[in-house]
Amino acid sequence: MFVHQAIAILDSGVGGLTVAKEVMRQLPREKIIYFGDTARAPYGPRTPEQVRFFTEQIVDFLIQFHPKMVVIACNTATAAALDFISDKLPIPVIGVIHPGARAAISATKTGHVGVIGTVGTIQSGAYLAALKELSPYIEVISEACPDLVPLVERGEFDTDHTRDVVQRSLSRMSQNDIDCLILGCTHYPFLRKAIGKVMGPDVKLISSADETAREISTVLYQKGQLARGMETPIHQFFCSGDEVKFRQIAREWLGEEIHLTPIVWHVGRMADDGR
Ligand code: DGL
Repeated sequence: MFVHQAIAILDSGVGGLTVAKEVMRQLPREKIIYFGDTARAPYGPRTPEQVRFFTEQIVDFLIQFHPKMVVIACNTATAAALDFISDKLPIPVIGVIHPGARAAISATKTGHVGVIGTVGTIQSGAYLAALKELSPYIEVISEACPDLVPLVERGEFDTDHTRDVVQRSLSRMSQNDIDCLILGCTHYPFLRKAIGKVMGPDVKLISSADETAREISTVLYQKGQLARGMETPIHQFFCSGDEVKFRQIAREWLGEEIHLTPIVWHVGRMADDGR
């Protein structure tokens, strides 16, 4: 029965599309149900409790579709809620921080790795812990870049303003002697070009999307739950905010039209805008 069920993917907004795209590429038979909480993005400046609450609310929504797996395609939510959600669900729950750390360890030659992410992710220390767990002698330099997510949510990937903001956000990081930079926020691959320009050709940019898709593939294979059959899956997308913007960004990033349903959250404890 599991082989026909979908993989649920969630993020604060459009960032998780970077993971969804890689899942579509590596596992083209798998159906995806995606939730982007665009009404409440960014999650980065919020407290871990609030992010955990939002994540649980989204998971409760997605679980009604009986997915075979949940992917928290958001570093901030992974840092705040992965263990909590894993303990709650009887199906596998995958985050993006361990896959990102693994990808960096296999890419670095010097052992000097940079990490950029939201305030929530960087303050959690989750990347540092994951990297050190894999390789205790690794040197890690971390920095929060809070101005990048709003650019992506607005669909400004390659404007003059974006290049300025990226330049400013990375001015300190680019001075460091690192050979890999972990894009520790699933929104950042949208800005890969601008980030690459500031960091230069000698710094490899590591996105957790590829490695996360590989982990999904491995877990489903081990459980005998990989989708079979030749029908092309019809993915389903939900967003809580601007439907037109989400559709436009998804079309540009995925290269196809999506089936999108807007969701309005009921206002309740911490379920409102919260700022
Ligand atoms: N895409 C998210 C992450 O990976 C969240 C960014 C945000 O909402 O601040 O951290």
